[in-house]
Amino acid sequence: MKATKSPAARTANRARQKRAGAALSATLFCAFSLYIAWHASHESQTRPVDELPMSSARGDDSPASAADADKPELVRRGEYLARVGDCAACHTADPSRPFAGGLAIDTPFGRIYTPNITPDRDTGIGQWSDTDFVRAMHEGIGKGGERLYPAFPYVEFTRVAGRDVLAIRAYLNTVAPVHYTAPANALRFPFNQRWLMILWNLFNFDESRFVPDPKQSAEFNRGAYLVEGLAHCEECHTPRNFMQGLRTTERFSGATQAGWQAYNITPDRAGGIGDWSDDALIAYLSTGVAAGHANAAGPMADVVQNSTQYFTREDLRSVVAYLRALPPVSGGKTRPRDAWGKRAADGITALRGAPVTTVNGLQLFAANCASCCQWTGAGMGTNAPGANDLARVILHGVARKTKDADVLMPACRDELGNGQVAAISNYVTKRFGNPQATITADPVAALRAEPR
Ligand code: HEC
Ligand code: HEC
Repeated sequence: MKATKSPAARTANRARQKRAGAALSATLFCAFSLYIAWHASHESQTRPVDELPMSSARGDDSPASAADADKPELVRRGEYLARVGDCAACHTADPSRPFAGGLAIDTPFGRIYTPNITPDRDTGIGQWSDTDFVRAMHEGIGKGGERLYPAFPYVEFTRVAGRDVLAIRAYLNTVAPVHYTAPANALRFPFNQRWLMILWNLFNFDESRFVPDPKQSAEFNRGAYLVEGLAHCEECHTPRNFMQGLRTTERFSGATQAGWQAYNITPDRAGGIGDWSDDALIAYLSTGVAAGHANAAGPMADVVQNSTQYFTREDLRSVVAYLRALPPVSGGKTRPRDAWGKRAADGITALRGAPVTTVNGLQLFAANCASCCQWTGAGMGTNAPGANDLARVILHGVARKTKDADVLMPACRDELGNGQVAAISNYVTKRFGNPQATITADPVAALRAEPR
């Protein structure tokens, strides 16, 4: 039908669409103004109640007042919670000045530097009251009333119980004050206008504490409290809408994070982690390795190193119980990532004794990787990711420290050319990963030039 329309009809159609667009914008604007007016008049009455019956979700029964009376215990709990929230990952740019900020975070809207959250009075949060601190964590509002950017995961932190936020504050009060101011943000107009976050929040932020589900077990609720709140797993594992808000209809179904694929972690057997045992998941989160499934690299290696390896057994079990109960999302996958062609062995056997004529991926793999990664590929975790991520691992290596082991895969950028890195990536993804994921020398050159 479309093809037979006259130019005049098309113009009329376009004008109609334009009018509809203008009407929609006007309606949205009015709705927004009404919302602001309503919010301003209701602000004081609608503050959510902070202390919900969290003890059921928390798995401990100690009343808040007892914890508050015991200062060292409060600080210890705050330190644990700060690890769960991985505050150090974003607020430490230089390990010699922990929590002093200065880490550059690149967003689609420009570059944001994390602020100093040490108790330094001039450059840190030394002059913040507890109320200021709680407001920042729960509402994304800074000390001067300014709107904070959601690169600070307050969309998740808002769910954290007030007393846990105060424990984190108590711990941060004990870290060494560092006199340091991060560079100014480099955000493009209009994103450098902080007040615009009011609009963003309207569509993408629900300021409310976590409410345990009485129909679920205490273990599930504790897991939900951690995963949806302080541990902010969704920051990377939930896809985003065009405003960079979390797409709440596809939670945990996987997203791209800093160029890495943060996989689907719903319990779908093909698309997600449905075929992992509880022990495999716990091993992955506490050591970075789940034999036969995956070996954490990139941003997840950092998450394991700075955060999940410190989770208590009970908390790990709770996280797993929660992930298992999520609605499964297949994402159109028919086969788990770790079930693609498992055995390089046949290839290596065929190579034995054969004259080496051309340099191919298998030979390069045998020469460069097989000694560390075991020639079946098992040592790599057979979860060969997309060819991009793998090429990145080959170029830049893996450095992940946990309390059990330091995993160090050497970087091969100086030893291998772009074509060779592409050949190895393609070989490994074909044998152990998804055969459809391939890469050529040009993108490898681009990955090589990436800042690390
Ligand atoms: C994913 C990165 C990330 C993580 C994790 C993170 N933050 Fe931040 N945080 C930021 C960014 C970015 C800002 C600055 C936002 C802005 O400038 O609007 C910020 C701002 C803050 C502020 C406001 C400081 C100021 O001077 O305005 C506080 C307080 C804060 N974070 C505390 C924490 C605590 C406590 C944790 C751990 C529970 C934490 N953050 C974890 C990225 C992070
Ligand atoms: C900073 C971003 C980020 C955060 C936060 C994060 N992840 Fe991940 N996660 C990733 C990336 C990227 C990968 C893929 C790692 C790789 O390629 O080796 C991953 C992989 C995983 C995997 C392995 C999936 C597979 O099929 O191989 C699991 C399980 C997982 N994450 C769980 C979690 C949980 C639970 C949390 C919260 C406690 C979390 N992640 C927080 C980025 C993140």
